[in-house]
Amino acid sequence: MRLVFFGPPGAGKGTQARLLKERFHLHHISTGDLLRTAIRENTPVGQQARAYIEAGELVPDDIVNRIVMEALEAIGCDNFILDGYPRTIFQAKTLDTFLEGFSKPLQVVISLEVRDEVIVARLSRRRVNKLTGENYHLDFNPPPPDVPPELIIQREDDRPEVIRQRLEAYKKRTEPLKVYYRKKGILREINGEGTIEEVFERILRVLKEEGLIVLPSEK
Ligand code: AP5
Repeated sequence: MRLVFFGPPGAGKGTQARLLKERFHLHHISTGDLLRTAIRENTPVGQQARAYIEAGELVPDDIVNRIVMEALEAIGCDNFILDGYPRTIFQAKTLDTFLEGFSKPLQVVISLEVRDEVIVARLSRRRVNKLTGENYHLDFNPPPPDVPPELIIQREDDRPEVIRQRLEAYKKRTEPLKVYYRKKGILREINGEGTIEEVFERILRVLKEEGLIVLPSEK
């Protein structure tokens, strides 16, 4: 399976990607996670990316393209979920050319549709495990009691003014990609609101309709 989870910040891409990865043993490639790891480890990529992420702006294409191509190559360009990539037309075209070189084109782009007010409510109450990157929500998906509280932090870019900037970057530079993937016939838009389980069920339904999975009851 070769798919992209697409959608605004806070749409639930990471949450759903982790569930799908576990269920089908896929590789989960999140550019946000890769960039945050690079920042934590203070690598040259991390040093370049830090200011952009803290300001809620997109990291330049050449940096992001390079880390994604490396990650894809390392896993043989198959059985992956891309989360948070591509985010610009240039990234999308680079990805297409790269995957075509391996005769492994993208099969589906699932866009999670969530209204702005729901996004703000999700992101302002999100918490993450600073060691594992696991996402939580103080109301809908609280951190388990066995995780030490000092590991649970709020992301720097989940402050209200940065959330606004990220939403703006999404609308200006990323949302137009929907037209690109619609023309290719691989865009599937689903309602990203409702419980985590409800959204997951909708994703499974799309993957089944696309012939990418068989649900247990049909085996
Ligand atoms: P990135 O980490 O990719 O952030 P994002 O796209 O803004 O997405 P988020 O991680 O904020 O949200 P999500 O959709 O994964 O939602 P989640 O599942 O966490 O990127 C960060 C930055 O890196 C960017 O701003 C940019 O600077 C840079 N960057 C990354 N990729 C780039 C690229 N390709 N090009 C250039 N720059 C790039 O859910 C959010 C919260 O809601 C959580 O608390 C979760 O528990 C909760 N939640 C999830 N689903 C539900 C539900 N159904 N009901 C209730 N709560 C829910």
